[in-house]
Amino acid sequence: MTTDRAGENLSRRHLLYGMGAAGFAGLGSGALVGAAVGGGSGTSGAEAALSAARSRGGPLDGVPAALRTPTPCHVHLVALDLGESSGPEEVRSAARTALPVLSEEAREIQEHGPASRAQGSASAGLRPASLGVSLGLGSGLLRKAGLAERVPPALADLPAFTSDRLTPSWCGGDLLVHVGAEDALVVSSAIEHLLGVLDDDVRVRWSLPGFQRSAAVASDPADTPRNLMGQIDGTVNPEPDQTLFTSQVLASHTEPGFTWMAGGSYVVVRRIRMLLRDWSAIDLSSREAVIGRHLSNGAPLGGQEEGSRPDLAARNEDGSPMIPANAHIRLTSSENTLGARMLRRGFNFDLGWDSDGVRQAGLLFTAWQADPASGFIPVQRAMDEGEDALNPFIRQEGSALFAVPQVGGRQTWVGQELFGE
Ligand code: HEM
Repeated sequence: MTTDRAGENLSRRHLLYGMGAAGFAGLGSGALVGAAVGGGSGTSGAEAALSAARSRGGPLDGVPAALRTPTPCHVHLVALDLGESSGPEEVRSAARTALPVLSEEAREIQEHGPASRAQGSASAGLRPASLGVSLGLGSGLLRKAGLAERVPPALADLPAFTSDRLTPSWCGGDLLVHVGAEDALVVSSAIEHLLGVLDDDVRVRWSLPGFQRSAAVASDPADTPRNLMGQIDGTVNPEPDQTLFTSQVLASHTEPGFTWMAGGSYVVVRRIRMLLRDWSAIDLSSREAVIGRHLSNGAPLGGQEEGSRPDLAARNEDGSPMIPANAHIRLTSSENTLGARMLRRGFNFDLGWDSDGVRQAGLLFTAWQADPASGFIPVQRAMDEGEDALNPFIRQEGSALFAVPQVGGRQTWVGQELFGE
């Protein structure tokens, strides 16, 4: 059970888990790439998506599939580049070819599973396992295509952060293919199929698979999962049944050039390596002080339960703050960031050890918001400027920002309003 700052019950997961995976697999053609509803212009796109989803009593099939709950146990994010060293017309043409095909194939495999579209598929005989595909566009694609004026301010390049230790080949990308499902083989097979339908001039820029514990092994599948540092991660998050969800997570655009993103969401992806050996070398109470929450049950220091509201003013007997000044939850709280909010969907990655003996494991951090300027950016700055106690234990190595449009209504394929004209 989770609560937000306003004390609202955010635990939509409890309701949705009741449906089980079959409920999502059964979404049928309503579960399009991103959405099945929308149509209106401007803000109404987002509102319509939510109210339609609510009135059907189902999950958010009006917004990107990646925002549906429960969060899938396996994801794979692939960033693609297309039309390298081509002129704007060639890039537009490449996008006009790739995006309808990807959208259509994604829609098909979500409904029937990846094996339905490919003979001899590794996932033959398997159900879709709640497969969800979301497609995103990077600002670089629009600029290369001569559409710089159609880049909404929310899609402007992220600023440099002092904690960035970025490897360029793990950053950026023209297109994002975000695939999630309850089964790793279904995810792998879906990626294989989706990339297989693209032309040869589309190349993979970076990719990263992620996972979280499966519902099958959790004592309560509605419990917030733990990350590789052992922390309960994802407690404070806007949830679909909360009134603020629309304004905080879904983009609202009425400006004519930007309506292609009305009702969609901007996702920041960060590849964050965890220095797990350093983390395990400090004692339990030091680890708890880093985050400001107990490791055992995720309760804020000074609180009883995971859902307890953190008391940022609470003091120890010696007068020191109970939740330290540089604790992660203090610095990233909406109180400290002028109300900044985003939907965090974190997945673990564990690629073993590289040839230099470095453990490549950490958090595949995704943050979904209406605008990174009132979401990820101020929060990351707060972590940097406040010297977040977590910073010494993590390395921010990859970074990208994508616009994930709503599809349905005016747009039957992702980017149609941009490239179909
Ligand atoms: C490996 C890196 C990270 C780890 C291990 C981590 C872990 C955690 C944990 C354990 C919590 C407390 C439970 C919860 O509310 O989910 C938390 C909260 C939070 N984190 Fe992170 N985090 C990481 C990176 C980030 C980044 C990069 C951002 C954004 C720039 C961020 C933003 C937040 C926010 C907004 C909260 C909720 C704060 C509140 O209002 O209580 N985290 N994180």
